[in-house]
Amino acid sequence: MDTLQPVMADQFVESLRTALDRALGWLTYPRKPEEYFAALAPRHFGPLRAEIIALEPHFDGCATLVLRTDKRFVAHKPGQFVALTLEIDGVRRTRCFSISSAPRSARGPRVIELTIKSTARGTVTPRLVHPSIVGTTVELSPPRGSFVLDDELPPRLLFITGGSGITPVISMLRALDQKAIREGAPGAKGTLLHFAKSEREALFLDELKQMPWLDLHLVTEEALGRMPSLDEASLAAVVSDFEDTRAYACGPAPLLKAVEAAFAARGAPGALTIERFQSAFDSGGEGEGKGTVHFARSNKTVNDHRTLLVVAEEQGLEPKSGCRMGICGTCHCKKLSGATRDLRTGEVSTEANVDIALCSTVAIGDVSIDL
Ligand SMILES: Cc1cc2nc3c(=O)[nH]c(=O)nc-3n(C[C@H](O)[C@H](O)[C@H](O)COP(=O)(O)OP(=O)(O)OC[C@H]3O[C@@H](n4cnc5c(N)ncnc54)[C@H](O)[C@@H]3O)c2cc1C
Ligand code: FES
Repeated sequence: MDTLQPVMADQFVESLRTALDRALGWLTYPRKPEEYFAALAPRHFGPLRAEIIALEPHFDGCATLVLRTDKRFVAHKPGQFVALTLEIDGVRRTRCFSISSAPRSARGPRVIELTIKSTARGTVTPRLVHPSIVGTTVELSPPRGSFVLDDELPPRLLFITGGSGITPVISMLRALDQKAIREGAPGAKGTLLHFAKSEREALFLDELKQMPWLDLHLVTEEALGRMPSLDEASLAAVVSDFEDTRAYACGPAPLLKAVEAAFAARGAPGALTIERFQSAFDSGGEGEGKGTVHFARSNKTVNDHRTLLVVAEEQGLEPKSGCRMGICGTCHCKKLSGATRDLRTGEVSTEANVDIALCSTVAIGDVSIDL
Protein backbone atom coordinates (compact mmCIF):
# COMPACT_ATOMS: atom_id res chain seq x y z
CA MET A 1 0.00 0.00 0.00
CA ASP A 2 2.84 2.36 0.99
CA THR A 3 4.53 1.88 -2.36
CA LEU A 4 1.31 2.21 -4.35
CA GLN A 5 0.28 5.58 -2.89
CA PRO A 6 3.11 7.63 -4.46
CA VAL A 7 2.49 5.88 -7.80
CA MET A 8 -1.20 6.76 -7.66
CA ALA A 9 -0.30 10.34 -6.70
CA ASP A 10 2.11 10.54 -9.67
CA GLN A 11 -0.58 9.19 -11.99
CA PHE A 12 -3.08 11.71 -10.63
CA VAL A 13 -0.63 14.62 -11.15
CA GLU A 14 0.21 13.36 -14.64
CA SER A 15 -3.45 13.09 -15.68
CA LEU A 16 -4.15 16.53 -14.17
CA ARG A 17 -1.23 17.98 -16.16
CA THR A 18 -2.43 16.27 -19.34
CA ALA A 19 -5.97 17.60 -18.82
CA LEU A 20 -4.61 21.14 -18.21
CA ASP A 21 -2.34 20.88 -21.27
CA ARG A 22 -5.28 19.78 -23.39
CA ALA A 23 -7.56 22.54 -22.01
CA LEU A 24 -4.87 25.19 -22.64
CA GLY A 25 -4.22 23.66 -26.07
CA TRP A 26 -7.89 23.90 -27.03
CA LEU A 27 -8.07 27.48 -25.73
CA THR A 28 -5.02 28.62 -27.69
CA TYR A 29 -5.71 26.57 -30.87
CA PRO A 30 -4.41 26.88 -33.63
CA ARG A 31 -1.32 28.12 -31.72
CA LYS A 32 0.44 26.19 -28.97
CA PRO A 33 0.34 27.58 -25.39
CA GLU A 34 4.11 28.27 -25.42
CA GLU A 35 3.64 30.58 -28.42
CA TYR A 36 1.39 32.79 -26.26
CA PHE A 37 4.00 32.88 -23.47
CA ALA A 38 6.55 33.94 -26.10
CA ALA A 39 4.25 36.73 -27.29
CA LEU A 40 3.67 37.96 -23.71
CA ALA A 41 7.36 37.96 -22.65
CA PRO A 42 9.47 37.65 -25.82
CA ARG A 43 12.77 38.47 -24.10
CA HIS A 44 12.44 35.45 -21.84
CA PHE A 45 10.31 32.94 -23.72
CA GLY A 46 10.62 34.10 -27.33
CA PRO A 47 12.90 32.45 -29.88
CA LEU A 48 16.59 33.34 -30.06
CA ARG A 49 17.19 35.92 -32.76
CA ALA A 50 20.22 36.87 -34.81
CA GLU A 51 20.92 39.61 -37.33
CA ILE A 52 22.82 38.74 -40.51
CA ILE A 53 25.49 41.46 -40.46
CA ALA A 54 27.67 40.40 -43.41
CA LEU A 55 27.89 37.99 -46.33
CA GLU A 56 31.27 36.87 -47.61
CA PRO A 57 31.11 35.06 -50.97
CA HIS A 58 33.40 32.05 -51.64
CA PHE A 59 32.32 31.13 -55.18
CA ASP A 60 29.04 31.13 -57.13
CA GLY A 61 26.23 29.95 -54.84
CA CYS A 62 28.41 29.62 -51.74
CA ALA A 63 28.96 32.19 -49.01
CA THR A 64 29.70 32.64 -45.34
CA LEU A 65 27.04 34.51 -43.36
CA VAL A 66 28.12 36.45 -40.27
CA LEU A 67 25.40 36.64 -37.61
CA ARG A 68 25.20 38.66 -34.41
CA THR A 69 23.18 36.51 -32.00
CA ASP A 70 21.14 37.68 -29.02
CA LYS A 71 22.39 37.61 -25.43
CA ARG A 72 20.76 34.26 -24.61
CA PHE A 73 22.73 32.38 -27.27
CA VAL A 74 25.11 29.97 -25.52
CA ALA A 75 28.53 29.27 -27.04
CA HIS A 76 28.54 26.22 -29.30
CA LYS A 77 30.88 23.23 -29.21
CA PRO A 78 32.90 23.05 -32.44
CA GLY A 79 30.99 20.79 -34.85
CA GLN A 80 27.48 21.69 -33.65
CA PHE A 81 24.71 23.15 -35.80
CA VAL A 82 21.78 25.53 -35.42
CA ALA A 83 18.28 25.37 -36.88
CA LEU A 84 17.70 28.71 -38.64
CA THR A 85 14.19 30.00 -39.32
CA LEU A 86 13.32 32.80 -41.72
CA GLU A 87 10.18 33.94 -43.46
CA ILE A 88 10.06 33.50 -47.21
CA ASP A 89 7.00 34.79 -49.08
CA GLY A 90 4.99 34.74 -45.85
CA VAL A 91 5.95 31.16 -44.90
CA ARG A 92 8.33 30.37 -42.03
CA ARG A 93 11.04 27.95 -43.17
CA THR A 94 13.53 26.17 -40.91
CA ARG A 95 16.80 24.58 -42.08
CA CYS A 96 19.89 23.32 -40.22
CA PHE A 97 23.40 24.72 -40.68
CA SER A 98 26.67 23.82 -38.98
CA ILE A 99 28.45 26.70 -37.26
CA SER A 100 31.70 27.19 -39.18
CA SER A 101 33.33 29.65 -36.76
CA ALA A 102 35.21 28.56 -33.64
CA PRO A 103 33.51 29.31 -30.31
CA ARG A 104 35.99 32.13 -29.62
CA SER A 105 35.45 34.11 -32.80
CA ALA A 106 37.89 36.91 -33.61
CA ARG A 107 34.81 38.89 -34.67
CA GLY A 108 33.67 39.23 -31.04
CA PRO A 109 31.36 37.62 -28.53
CA ARG A 110 28.05 36.17 -29.74
CA VAL A 111 29.08 36.45 -33.40
CA ILE A 112 28.84 33.19 -35.34
CA GLU A 113 29.44 32.19 -38.96
CA LEU A 114 27.45 29.82 -41.15
CA THR A 115 28.91 28.71 -44.48
CA ILE A 116 26.16 27.86 -46.92
CA LYS A 117 26.22 26.24 -50.34
CA SER A 118 22.97 26.84 -52.16
CA THR A 119 21.03 23.74 -53.21
CA ALA A 120 19.75 23.61 -56.80
CA ARG A 121 15.99 24.30 -56.76
CA GLY A 122 16.19 24.66 -52.94
CA THR A 123 13.73 26.90 -51.09
CA VAL A 124 15.95 28.50 -48.44
CA THR A 125 19.64 28.26 -49.36
CA PRO A 126 19.48 30.32 -52.62
CA ARG A 127 17.89 33.12 -50.56
CA LEU A 128 20.56 32.91 -47.86
CA VAL A 129 23.54 33.25 -50.22
CA HIS A 130 22.06 36.32 -51.97
CA PRO A 131 23.61 39.68 -50.90
CA SER A 132 20.11 41.09 -50.13
CA ILE A 133 19.99 38.82 -47.05
CA VAL A 134 22.33 41.18 -45.13
CA GLY A 135 20.35 43.08 -42.47
CA THR A 136 17.72 40.31 -42.12
CA THR A 137 16.81 39.07 -38.65
CA VAL A 138 16.39 35.31 -38.38
CA GLU A 139 15.48 32.93 -35.55
CA LEU A 140 18.02 30.40 -34.32
CA SER A 141 17.76 27.31 -32.17
CA PRO A 142 20.39 26.86 -29.46
CA PRO A 143 23.48 24.99 -30.79
CA ARG A 144 22.73 21.29 -31.13
CA GLY A 145 24.27 18.00 -32.17
CA SER A 146 26.77 15.42 -31.00
CA PHE A 147 29.26 15.73 -33.90
CA VAL A 148 31.81 17.26 -31.52
CA LEU A 149 35.36 16.65 -30.36
CA ASP A 150 35.77 14.33 -27.37
CA ASP A 151 36.29 16.13 -24.04
CA GLU A 152 39.67 14.44 -23.77
CA LEU A 153 41.52 14.77 -27.08
CA PRO A 154 42.93 11.50 -28.46
CA PRO A 155 46.53 11.50 -29.78
CA ARG A 156 45.41 11.43 -33.44
CA LEU A 157 42.43 12.89 -35.29
CA LEU A 158 41.35 12.13 -38.86
CA PHE A 159 38.79 14.29 -40.68
CA ILE A 160 37.24 13.19 -43.99
CA THR A 161 35.08 15.81 -45.71
CA GLY A 162 33.49 16.50 -49.07
CA GLY A 163 32.27 19.86 -50.45
CA SER A 164 30.29 21.90 -47.91
CA GLY A 165 30.67 18.97 -45.48
CA ILE A 166 33.79 20.74 -44.27
CA THR A 167 31.68 23.32 -42.36
CA PRO A 168 31.41 21.53 -38.99
CA VAL A 169 35.01 20.32 -39.30
CA ILE A 170 36.46 23.80 -39.97
CA SER A 171 34.97 24.90 -36.63
CA MET A 172 36.85 22.01 -34.94
CA LEU A 173 40.07 22.79 -36.83
CA ARG A 174 39.83 26.50 -35.98
CA ALA A 175 39.38 25.66 -32.29
CA LEU A 176 42.38 23.28 -32.43
CA ASP A 177 44.42 25.92 -34.24
CA GLN A 178 43.60 28.51 -31.56
CA LYS A 179 44.76 25.96 -28.97
CA ALA A 180 47.96 25.39 -30.98
CA ILE A 181 48.64 29.14 -31.01
CA ARG A 182 47.89 29.49 -27.28
CA GLU A 183 49.73 26.37 -26.08
CA GLY A 184 52.25 25.68 -28.85
CA ALA A 185 50.46 22.47 -29.98
CA PRO A 186 46.82 21.59 -30.75
CA GLY A 187 46.88 18.62 -28.35
CA ALA A 188 46.40 16.05 -31.14
CA LYS A 189 47.98 15.21 -34.49
CA GLY A 190 45.47 16.09 -37.20
CA THR A 191 44.93 14.81 -40.75
CA LEU A 192 42.31 16.23 -43.12
CA LEU A 193 41.31 14.40 -46.31
CA HIS A 194 39.08 16.82 -48.23
CA PHE A 195 37.25 16.22 -51.53
CA ALA A 196 36.20 19.18 -53.71
CA LYS A 197 35.27 19.86 -57.32
CA SER A 198 38.27 22.14 -57.85
CA GLU A 199 40.86 24.11 -55.86
CA ARG A 200 38.70 27.20 -56.33
CA GLU A 201 35.75 25.42 -54.72
CA ALA A 202 37.84 23.95 -51.88
CA LEU A 203 36.46 25.97 -48.97
CA PHE A 204 38.92 27.57 -46.52
CA LEU A 205 41.93 26.22 -48.46
CA ASP A 206 44.25 29.18 -47.76
CA GLU A 207 43.41 29.06 -44.06
CA LEU A 208 43.93 25.28 -43.88
CA LYS A 209 47.37 25.65 -45.48
CA GLN A 210 48.28 28.02 -42.62
CA MET A 211 47.74 25.30 -39.98
CA PRO A 212 51.24 23.83 -39.63
CA TRP A 213 50.10 20.98 -37.35
CA LEU A 214 47.53 19.76 -39.93
CA ASP A 215 48.42 17.13 -42.55
CA LEU A 216 46.24 18.33 -45.43
CA HIS A 217 45.24 16.10 -48.39
CA LEU A 218 43.08 17.75 -51.04
CA VAL A 219 41.55 15.60 -53.79
CA THR A 220 39.79 17.46 -56.61
CA GLU A 221 37.67 16.23 -59.49
CA GLU A 222 39.43 18.85 -61.66
CA ALA A 223 42.92 17.46 -60.98
CA LEU A 224 41.84 13.80 -61.30
CA GLY A 225 39.80 14.36 -64.46
CA ARG A 226 37.04 12.17 -62.99
CA MET A 227 34.84 11.86 -59.90
CA PRO A 228 37.05 10.96 -56.94
CA SER A 229 36.22 7.80 -55.03
CA LEU A 230 37.32 6.40 -51.70
CA ASP A 231 37.89 2.87 -50.45
CA GLU A 232 39.86 1.09 -47.75
CA ALA A 233 43.11 1.14 -49.78
CA SER A 234 42.96 4.83 -50.75
CA LEU A 235 42.15 5.81 -47.16
CA ALA A 236 45.07 3.65 -45.94
CA ALA A 237 47.32 5.52 -48.40
CA VAL A 238 46.60 8.68 -46.36
CA VAL A 239 46.69 7.12 -42.86
CA SER A 240 47.86 3.50 -42.96
CA ASP A 241 46.30 2.51 -39.60
CA PHE A 242 43.22 4.75 -39.93
CA GLU A 243 41.17 2.32 -37.83
CA ASP A 244 43.23 3.37 -34.80
CA THR A 245 42.49 7.09 -35.20
CA ARG A 246 39.48 9.02 -33.92
CA ALA A 247 37.71 9.96 -37.13
CA TYR A 248 35.01 12.45 -38.16
CA ALA A 249 33.35 12.50 -41.58
CA CYS A 250 30.86 14.84 -43.23
CA GLY A 251 29.96 15.17 -46.90
CA PRO A 252 27.79 13.73 -49.67
CA ALA A 253 26.02 10.43 -48.97
CA PRO A 254 28.20 8.27 -51.31
CA LEU A 255 31.39 9.53 -49.60
CA LEU A 256 29.97 8.76 -46.14
CA LYS A 257 28.93 5.29 -47.29
CA ALA A 258 32.46 4.61 -48.55
CA VAL A 259 34.05 5.88 -45.30
CA GLU A 260 31.71 3.68 -43.22
CA ALA A 261 32.57 0.66 -45.39
CA ALA A 262 36.33 1.31 -45.00
CA PHE A 263 36.10 1.48 -41.19
CA ALA A 264 33.80 -1.57 -41.09
CA ALA A 265 36.29 -3.53 -43.24
CA ARG A 266 38.95 -2.84 -40.59
CA GLY A 267 36.54 -3.88 -37.82
CA ALA A 268 36.53 -0.39 -36.27
CA PRO A 269 33.15 1.26 -37.02
CA GLY A 270 33.14 2.78 -33.51
CA ALA A 271 36.18 4.96 -34.24
CA LEU A 272 34.10 6.98 -36.71
CA THR A 273 31.52 9.74 -36.10
CA ILE A 274 29.45 10.96 -39.04
CA GLU A 275 27.39 14.13 -39.65
CA ARG A 276 24.75 13.90 -42.40
CA PHE A 277 23.25 16.90 -44.15
CA GLN A 278 20.55 14.89 -45.90
CA SER A 279 17.84 12.70 -44.46
CA ALA A 280 17.34 9.06 -45.27
CA PHE A 281 13.67 9.54 -44.34
CA ASP A 282 12.98 12.36 -46.84
CA SER A 283 11.16 9.99 -49.16
CA GLY A 284 8.68 9.50 -46.35
CA GLY A 285 10.21 6.50 -44.58
CA GLU A 286 8.90 2.99 -44.57
CA GLY A 287 5.78 2.50 -42.51
CA GLU A 288 4.34 -0.90 -41.74
CA GLY A 289 1.03 -0.38 -43.49
CA LYS A 290 -1.04 -0.46 -40.30
CA GLY A 291 -3.55 1.88 -38.66
CA THR A 292 -4.81 5.41 -39.16
CA VAL A 293 -3.27 8.75 -38.17
CA HIS A 294 -5.60 11.20 -36.42
CA PHE A 295 -4.45 14.84 -36.16
CA ALA A 296 -6.49 15.86 -33.10
CA ARG A 297 -6.35 19.68 -33.25
CA SER A 298 -7.22 19.87 -36.92
CA ASN A 299 -9.53 16.86 -36.73
CA LYS A 300 -8.18 15.04 -39.78
CA THR A 301 -7.86 11.26 -40.03
CA VAL A 302 -5.84 9.56 -42.76
CA ASN A 303 -4.63 6.13 -43.70
CA ASP A 304 -1.02 6.92 -44.65
CA HIS A 305 2.02 5.02 -43.35
CA ARG A 306 4.92 7.34 -44.23
CA THR A 307 6.66 9.50 -41.61
CA LEU A 308 4.21 11.54 -39.57
CA LEU A 309 5.89 14.73 -40.87
CA VAL A 310 5.25 13.78 -44.49
CA VAL A 311 1.70 12.68 -43.65
CA ALA A 312 1.00 15.99 -41.84
CA GLU A 313 2.47 18.04 -44.72
CA GLU A 314 0.35 16.12 -47.23
CA GLN A 315 -2.68 17.16 -45.18
CA GLY A 316 -1.61 20.83 -45.47
CA LEU A 317 -0.85 21.15 -41.74
CA GLU A 318 2.59 22.83 -42.06
CA PRO A 319 4.24 21.48 -38.89
CA LYS A 320 7.67 22.99 -38.15
CA SER A 321 10.63 21.00 -39.46
CA GLY A 322 14.37 21.43 -39.81
CA CYS A 323 16.78 18.54 -40.37
CA ARG A 324 14.04 16.02 -41.31
CA MET A 325 16.20 13.26 -39.80
CA GLY A 326 15.45 13.38 -36.10
CA ILE A 327 18.36 15.42 -34.80
CA CYS A 328 17.32 19.08 -34.48
CA GLY A 329 14.14 18.73 -32.41
CA THR A 330 12.22 21.31 -34.51
CA CYS A 331 9.38 18.91 -35.43
CA HIS A 332 8.79 17.54 -31.94
CA CYS A 333 5.11 17.11 -31.20
CA LYS A 334 2.98 15.29 -28.68
CA LYS A 335 1.63 11.84 -29.45
CA LEU A 336 -1.69 11.64 -27.58
CA SER A 337 -2.14 7.89 -28.02
CA GLY A 338 -1.27 4.88 -30.17
CA ALA A 339 1.76 2.87 -31.28
CA THR A 340 4.60 4.37 -33.29
CA ARG A 341 8.04 3.24 -34.43
CA ASP A 342 11.12 5.50 -34.27
CA LEU A 343 12.96 4.89 -37.58
CA ARG A 344 16.31 5.96 -36.07
CA THR A 345 16.34 3.26 -33.43
CA GLY A 346 13.58 0.86 -34.48
CA GLU A 347 12.02 1.33 -31.01
CA VAL A 348 8.26 1.01 -30.60
CA SER A 349 6.43 3.49 -28.37
CA THR A 350 2.96 2.72 -27.02
CA GLU A 351 2.93 5.39 -24.27
CA ALA A 352 0.36 8.17 -24.35
CA ASN A 353 1.24 11.89 -24.13
CA VAL A 354 4.89 11.64 -25.10
CA ASP A 355 6.99 13.86 -27.36
CA ILE A 356 7.95 12.31 -30.71
CA ALA A 357 9.96 13.54 -33.69
CA LEU A 358 7.41 13.63 -36.52
CA CYS A 359 10.14 13.45 -39.20
CA SER A 360 11.50 10.09 -38.11
CA THR A 361 8.42 8.37 -36.69
CA VAL A 362 5.82 6.20 -38.40
CA ALA A 363 2.47 4.94 -37.10
CA ILE A 364 2.22 1.19 -36.58
CA GLY A 365 -1.39 1.23 -35.40
CA ASP A 366 -4.10 3.83 -34.84
CA VAL A 367 -2.35 6.98 -33.63
CA SER A 368 -3.55 10.37 -32.40
CA ILE A 369 -1.22 13.38 -32.72
CA ASP A 370 -1.61 16.79 -31.05
CA LEU A 371 -1.51 18.74 -34.31
C1 LIG B 1 22.84 18.93 -39.22
C2 LIG B 1 22.89 19.62 -40.55
C3 LIG B 1 23.88 20.56 -40.81
C4 LIG B 1 23.95 21.20 -42.05
N1 LIG B 1 24.93 22.11 -42.29
C5 LIG B 1 25.01 22.72 -43.48
C6 LIG B 1 26.02 23.69 -43.74
O1 LIG B 1 26.84 24.00 -42.88
N2 LIG B 1 26.06 24.27 -44.97
C7 LIG B 1 25.14 23.95 -45.95
O2 LIG B 1 25.22 24.52 -47.05
N3 LIG B 1 24.18 23.04 -45.72
C8 LIG B 1 24.07 22.43 -44.51
N4 LIG B 1 23.09 21.52 -44.27
C9 LIG B 1 22.16 21.22 -45.33
C10 LIG B 1 21.11 22.29 -45.42
O3 LIG B 1 20.26 22.26 -44.30
C11 LIG B 1 20.40 22.02 -46.74
O4 LIG B 1 21.24 22.51 -47.75
C12 LIG B 1 19.12 22.69 -46.81
O5 LIG B 1 18.23 21.97 -45.98
C13 LIG B 1 18.59 22.78 -48.20
O6 LIG B 1 17.58 23.70 -48.02
P1 LIG B 1 16.82 24.34 -49.19
O7 LIG B 1 15.62 24.98 -48.58
O8 LIG B 1 17.68 25.22 -50.01
O9 LIG B 1 16.40 23.11 -50.08
P2 LIG B 1 14.99 22.36 -50.00
O10 LIG B 1 13.92 23.23 -50.54
O11 LIG B 1 14.79 21.81 -48.65
O12 LIG B 1 15.27 21.21 -51.05
C14 LIG B 1 15.93 20.02 -50.64
C15 LIG B 1 16.12 19.12 -51.83
O13 LIG B 1 14.93 18.96 -52.58
C16 LIG B 1 15.18 19.32 -53.94
N5 LIG B 1 14.03 20.07 -54.47
C17 LIG B 1 13.48 21.17 -53.94
N6 LIG B 1 12.47 21.58 -54.70
C18 LIG B 1 12.38 20.70 -55.73
C19 LIG B 1 11.52 20.58 -56.84
N7 LIG B 1 10.53 21.45 -57.06
N8 LIG B 1 11.72 19.54 -57.69
C20 LIG B 1 12.70 18.64 -57.48
N9 LIG B 1 13.55 18.71 -56.44
C21 LIG B 1 13.37 19.73 -55.58
C22 LIG B 1 16.36 20.20 -53.94
O14 LIG B 1 17.08 20.09 -55.13
C23 LIG B 1 17.13 19.65 -52.81
O15 LIG B 1 17.93 18.57 -53.23
C24 LIG B 1 23.00 20.88 -43.04
C25 LIG B 1 21.98 19.95 -42.78
C26 LIG B 1 21.93 19.33 -41.55
C27 LIG B 1 20.83 18.35 -41.30
S1 FES C 1 12.94 18.04 -38.31
FE1 FES C 1 14.70 17.89 -37.05
S2 FES C 1 14.05 16.44 -35.55
FE2 FES C 1 12.48 16.41 -37.00
